[in-house]
Amino acid sequence: MTIPTEIRLTQALLRPWRSSDAESLAAHADDREIWRNMRDRFPHPYTLKDAKEWLAFAATLPPGTNFAIDVGGSAIGGISFEPLGDVFRVGAEVGYWVGRPYWGRGIATEGVRALSDHAFRHFDFLRLQASVFSWNPVSARVLEKAGYTREAINRRAMIKEGEVGDRWLYVRLRSG
Ligand SMILES: CC(C)(COP(=O)(O)OP(=O)(O)OC[C@H]1O[C@@H](n2cnc3c(N)ncnc32)[C@H](O)[C@@H]1OP(=O)(O)O)[C@@H](O)C(=O)NCCC(=O)NCCS
Repeated sequence: MTIPTEIRLTQALLRPWRSSDAESLAAHADDREIWRNMRDRFPHPYTLKDAKEWLAFAATLPPGTNFAIDVGGSAIGGISFEPLGDVFRVGAEVGYWVGRPYWGRGIATEGVRALSDHAFRHFDFLRLQASVFSWNPVSARVLEKAGYTREAINRRAMIKEGEVGDRWLYVRLRSG
């Protein structure tokens, strides 16, 4: 079975990144509140050059694993899963962000749910996990609504902008 590279949501389309996304990507990703909740490889400020570099990299990723969140033809966010590798290869880490003008519409919730269903259906992972920084209750809520449970609190496990925080490890296991 071929792996779908598009997932239709009610309010958005998850689709492959394309080179024409650079401007929209840079405009939405250049946001401190997004950066504060992402890993450091997500730049801040987020320039057009960063967007172009990301789009070139995204083109090398396995199909069906890394999606732009498209609303009205523009990329307004991103969502992906990345295999954990080595002995942890039974699992993958999910990550996502949504541009500020689109917050609170349920896009992330629907996206995480659909992406997780897709990952379990088309890949053989036993678990999907997500790492939430302790100051990010919105993301924790998104995951809970998408069928994840908080499996662990890893204390003093991360640092962002000089602030040490706990990692809330959320998990959704393959059912059945
Ligand atoms: C986290 C993020 C993806 C959420 O996107 P979104 O599309 O606005 O999320 P949704 O609309 O699906 O759901 C948001 C939920 O959080 C709730 N929420 C909003 N503000 C909140 C707050 N301050 N505290 C607790 N819950 C809050 C909403 O009410 C909603 O829950 P509800 O449906 O029960 O009302 C977005 O804010 C973002 O990109 N943040 C920065 C990057 C990030 O945190 N990525 C995830 C890293 S783990």
